[in-house]
Amino acid sequence: MLHGKGIVLGVTGGIAAYKACDIVRRLTRLHASVRVVMTENAKEFVAPLTFETLSGNPVYSDNFEKAWEIGHISLQKFADLTIVAPATANIIGKMASGIADDLLSTSLMAARSPVLIAPAMNSGMWLNPATQRNAETLKAWGYHFVGPSSGELACGDTDVGRMSEPEEIVEAAKRILLPKRDFEGKTVLVTAGPTREMLDPVRFLSNRSTGKMGYAIAEAARDRGAKVHLVTGPVDIKAPESVSVINITSTFDMFNAVCSLVDQADVVIQAAAPADFTPETVAAQKIKKTGDSMTVKLVSTPDIAMHIGRNKRRNQVFVAFAAETENVNQNAEGKRERKNADIIVANDVTKTGAGFGADTNIVTIISEDRKRSLPIMKKREVADEILNEVERIFGCGTQK
Ligand SMILES: Cc1cc2nc3c(=O)[nH]c(=O)nc-3n(C[C@H](O)[C@H](O)[C@H](O)COP(=O)(O)O)c2cc1C
Repeated sequence: MLHGKGIVLGVTGGIAAYKACDIVRRLTRLHASVRVVMTENAKEFVAPLTFETLSGNPVYSDNFEKAWEIGHISLQKFADLTIVAPATANIIGKMASGIADDLLSTSLMAARSPVLIAPAMNSGMWLNPATQRNAETLKAWGYHFVGPSSGELACGDTDVGRMSEPEEIVEAAKRILLPKRDFEGKTVLVTAGPTREMLDPVRFLSNRSTGKMGYAIAEAARDRGAKVHLVTGPVDIKAPESVSVINITSTFDMFNAVCSLVDQADVVIQAAAPADFTPETVAAQKIKKTGDSMTVKLVSTPDIAMHIGRNKRRNQVFVAFAAETENVNQNAEGKRERKNADIIVANDVTKTGAGFGADTNIVTIISEDRKRSLPIMKKREVADEILNEVERIFGCGTQK
């Protein structure tokens, strides 16, 4: 299953190092090619010979020994994925601080492949604010984590900090290395970005949406095999390749574009932030300053989400977003029902790391039968979580 995949496994100095032997065994059984890099401290726990025998490859640890043959750069050229298991508090701290003082940390700094970290340590070490901050930093940079779980620790306590089981770590590696193609044959319509409601030829009303969330969804749906239509307001980011892009300016334009595409779509995801109101009239010429105040009358724009929800076909899944600043989940649930959406993605745009402009988001994904609050994640990861929920609803056949 992992035929042709190169995996660098970094083993650091924790009691759970012996479990890394099982990880190598499982990966090689799946036909991955595994190269183990051990820290000096890891060698106190397991002899390199064990990993050499299980992987069928030499074990690396010294930065300079055999540097001509295999150094940090060539290791990373070989890697489709780097796993650090067990990952000590020390290596997590080094990675978050940019320290590269041995072969493993240098190789991790040079990594272009995804990196999967399986922390293993005493609960005091894991819950230490420094470790928590370091792990959050790495997550926000896109590092993948599996565990730690709660259970019996080497020190005898039963608490959080236990390394995930080798089987779970290999499953997490498979999820990263073998992207799903579960949207093959499906058409996904995504709206993204803000709209602009013109006041005169040079001025408009708009909002802070940057389109990042919608673009991440379009990219994830494409990667999972969907044909994607992206209806986008004006943004500064590049549209994903191989996605059909329809550029619009106003909410009215977005409404028309959505109406023309919605019938072809199996999934409609309204991640855009269209304006609810627009100036009643657009001045033909630039408005001149004539006094100390001016009044603009705004009239409501077409309600795109309401239109999609009301006209939803059977077997069509509709996802709406609720960007809220108070009573987030309650307001979002109300919106899901009013708009007849299958899923609502709620986020508190006042939180650091969530909402407009950020590369990360903190969301709760609410559908009829379940509500999942997710930790801070990259918008691309949030996109995959939303698509997982869409796929689950297709699987259950519970579309409204
Ligand atoms: C017996 C023993 C067990 C240890 N277990 C862990 C552990 O599970 N997790 C951890 O973060 N550190 C553990 N440590 C501490 C690390 O070995 C220590 O922080 C070391 O500097 C880590 O180096 P490395 O990250 O380069 O391997 C343990 C130390 C000893 C002596």
